[in-house]
Amino acid sequence: MNYLRNELLHILADGEFHSGTELGEHFAISRAAIGKHINALQDIGIDIYSVKGKGYRVAKPLSLLDSKKIDVMFHQLSGQTSANCTVLPVVDSTNTYLKDRIVHLHTGNACVAETQTSGRGRHGRQWYSPFASNIYLSLYWCFSGGYQTIAGLSLVVGIAVADVLDDLGIQHVGLKWPNDVYINMAKVAGILVEVEGTVADEVHTIIGVGLNVDLAENLDLGQTYTSAQHHVKNPIERNELVAHLLTKLHHYLTVFANKGLSPFQERWERLNAFNHKPVKLLLGKESVMGICMGINDQGALLVQVDGVIKAYHGGEISVRAVD
Ligand code: BTN
Repeated sequence: MNYLRNELLHILADGEFHSGTELGEHFAISRAAIGKHINALQDIGIDIYSVKGKGYRVAKPLSLLDSKKIDVMFHQLSGQTSANCTVLPVVDSTNTYLKDRIVHLHTGNACVAETQTSGRGRHGRQWYSPFASNIYLSLYWCFSGGYQTIAGLSLVVGIAVADVLDDLGIQHVGLKWPNDVYINMAKVAGILVEVEGTVADEVHTIIGVGLNVDLAENLDLGQTYTSAQHHVKNPIERNELVAHLLTKLHHYLTVFANKGLSPFQERWERLNAFNHKPVKLLLGKESVMGICMGINDQGALLVQVDGVIKAYHGGEISVRAVD
């Protein structure tokens, strides 16, 4: 988004009326030109009304992402000076944004966006990414030690997200293997870890987290979903939540890089929403019924099938509860 449009957005964020004349004078452009910029903002899904004689206003005040606010909170929580988190008003996908810049990145570099035009989910699905409602975050992390060092990485990310929600005081937070985050069995967050090849024994990963903060209800997203805000009274400040999430991720990923999955195995099993429950695994066209028995130290799902415990790896396995 260009500078002018971004500033226009920040002026409108207060939820008050701003006339075309006032805005035109501010930017030293015509009212017609302002109108075009307003249309462009509407095109990325921002609800802006125009009322004759009054001007433009957003449907409800927007609390926008702000890298300075993220830094302040990140410093309070972690002691580090900067979260190294780029704030993007609009992007195709935060994962793609980091992927395109990977040669310039250092471990811990991150980005967040107000909206994604092509947000990506697992299994080639889309990730619904309306403006200023949720968190769309990507983090670059480089692990040394080859592919085997990242076995179970996405599970650790799931635990980090679950623990942040837990810290907000939200109850009934759970995980569905490998890394869907649930509240009361409704999905609140999804994780997409992408591995961008290895050089020597270094594994370059991009960790994407989509966390619903305040989604409208009754959307048709193809599955039961919820938003964090619906489970806490105080308004959630997204900048604080981003800082909290980054702090937790930095901490857990550092432990994971040094010690692997074992320090997290017990926590994952406590969060496992399907522990000792009957599940159905969808393996492409095949399916397997069994009892969910947790994970092994590689992050594979353990399922008891006909009395025998088997380990299932791979990204294409989906877990469905059996009623
Ligand atoms: C899932 O299907 O459950 C995973 C969803 C991952 C969505 C996040 S939003 C931030 C990052 N950028 C993307 O394009 N996808 C991930």
